[in-house]
Amino acid sequence: MPSNAQHWNDAFNVADTTQLGWYQKEHAVSMELISSCDGKKIIDVGAGATTLVDTLLLDDYDVTVLDVSSEALRILSKRHGTNLQYVQGDLTENLKLGIFDIWHDRAVLHFLLNENERKSYVVNLEAAIPSGGFAVIETFSTDGEQMCCGLDLHTYDEGMLTELLGANWILIEAIRHTHINPFGGERPYISTIFKRL
Ligand SMILES: C[S@@+](CC[C@H](N)C(=O)[O-])C[C@H]1O[C@@H](n2cnc3c(N)ncnc32)[C@H](O)[C@@H]1O
Repeated sequence: MPSNAQHWNDAFNVADTTQLGWYQKEHAVSMELISSCDGKKIIDVGAGATTLVDTLLLDDYDVTVLDVSSEALRILSKRHGTNLQYVQGDLTENLKLGIFDIWHDRAVLHFLLNENERKSYVVNLEAAIPSGGFAVIETFSTDGEQMCCGLDLHTYDEGMLTELLGANWILIEAIRHTHINPFGGERPYISTIFKRL
């Protein structure tokens, strides 16, 4: 099944977003990685209904959220109003996003199953993050589940992410950890920081 806006709008059309498989109350790994990057202007791509943005706002980040799902953005805008900048967009298309210090992606890249989609993702990343900027990218790792939210995944290890981003990026840090979903399932993740040369 393709990963499209309707699929994701349906996924977010629930009474309780804390029961979504990727929900996490605390964002210790994401915040550890993000806070070690220079800069406060961040774009959270595939933000969903994440509460990571609550922590980022408390820490004085200038936060833009991007998602293909209008329903996800509606949930965030109900919570945060004008404290966030909102972009509805599909990372597999050519987007005009502006310039940021940090690109954060938790659990989006692994839904891009074909090479052209992944190439577009990198084009959007490189348009948004100039030399000296950072990409914090978190995906399901190769040793974990191969499906999420009814969709197939393209999972990663350090080498695969390094190869995808290419010669303009250097891997600064990679953390392996396990997300426990609301139903007790273990979901191994790889969370990384890349710096643009
Ligand atoms: C598994 S959820 C993760 C949400 C959030 N990052 C978190 O950690 O709670 C994946 C998110 O990516 C969004 N998404 C999926 N494909 C996308 C695409 N091609 N472009 C932009 N957003 C996309 C979905 O709408 C959803 O909000």
